[in-house]
Amino acid sequence: MVEEECPEPTAGEVRVRVLAAGVGLPDIMAREGIHPETPRVPFTPGWDLVGVVDRLGVGVSGLQPGELVTAMPISGAYAEFVCLPQSELVPVPSGLDAAEAVSLVLNYVTAYQMLHRSAKVRPGQRALIHGAAGGVGTALLQLGRLAELEMYGTCSSRGASAVSELGGIPIDYRQQDFVKEIHRLTGDGVDTVFDPIGGAHLWHSRKALRPGGKVVGYGNTTSLRGQGLTSGRPGRRNRLHGIPIFALYIAGGCLLPGRKRVVPYSIQTLKRLRPALFRQDLIALFDLLQRQMIKPLIAQRLPLAEARQAHELLGKGGVTGKIVLVAQRVAA
Ligand SMILES: NC(=O)c1ccc[n+]([C@@H]2O[C@H](COP(=O)([O-])OP(=O)(O)OC[C@H]3O[C@@H](n4cnc5c(N)ncnc54)[C@H](OP(=O)(O)O)[C@@H]3O)[C@@H](O)[C@H]2O)c1
Repeated sequence: MVEEECPEPTAGEVRVRVLAAGVGLPDIMAREGIHPETPRVPFTPGWDLVGVVDRLGVGVSGLQPGELVTAMPISGAYAEFVCLPQSELVPVPSGLDAAEAVSLVLNYVTAYQMLHRSAKVRPGQRALIHGAAGGVGTALLQLGRLAELEMYGTCSSRGASAVSELGGIPIDYRQQDFVKEIHRLTGDGVDTVFDPIGGAHLWHSRKALRPGGKVVGYGNTTSLRGQGLTSGRPGRRNRLHGIPIFALYIAGGCLLPGRKRVVPYSIQTLKRLRPALFRQDLIALFDLLQRQMIKPLIAQRLPLAEARQAHELLGKGGVTGKIVLVAQRVAA
């Protein structure tokens, strides 16, 4: 942990006092140097945050100190204060819990956009959700239920009850061959597979599709398994190592017969290309949270100072839902 001077907002920036920062596998992958978005070291991790407006830089209008806001800076959220351009901030309806609200940013926007913008799901369709007990997985289950999907979810045995409670049929990926299991349960397969595992796993996922189906590939969790999580390992890491094989599967999906496609999804790419969609979808999700139609599962709330423990917990696996770092109240 590092003590630094409190940052001052420059023109057009807003200083935000962070109330909650999300912890997710992309943070661990950035720490390991294997995420495409890894900044130069040293950097402060933290994809997403919810906080209160603390100080306005020159030229900022339309915001008041004390207002609740959120942002997805990709790095830097594990801090007490963060300065961000005003354009990056999205208002959070008052009355929402900061830890629940922050869980919507990376995980639920990812899930929502994959369902409705990449897969364009329709009621009654079948979906297979890998990593279904995890942060994005539980978001996919909750939003998939609202979209009236028939859902199957791979998870280890520890996550099975959470997956069932959220409306999915659990498949223990450690004990069962999910392709066989999907065909046994459904006959001809599913319409969509959401695959954060990457690598050759994408190709297995394709085998679980029915003709006309789509695999939405959105991660490379596989790179963290086996020798992956070895922070003590010296040397440079390849940030883009999963990308060539991904490209191969996308091309293979288009060229091979069977009308089964593999498409990529990246929240940060879509946000850069279409920032208005990110804002619009996040506002729609806050509305669902306010109306209690979704309820993010919070695995643990840990103080910011325990960021290391948070990474260790998530890195070990078996976490159900989202780990959130929360600011400790300072006595007045
Ligand atoms: N493209 C994007 O825009 C985007 C956005 C957000 C996240 N992501 C990616 O999404 C992935 C998940 O992130 P997260 O924060 O949701 O992680 P998480 O909360 O740690 O969840 C990951 C889940 O995957 C499960 N898992 C691991 N190996 C598996 C396998 N072979 N088959 C099925 N399940 C498996 C884990 O279960 P056990 O621990 O029980 O094994 C865990 O429940 C990461 O790769 C992340 O980089 C991508």
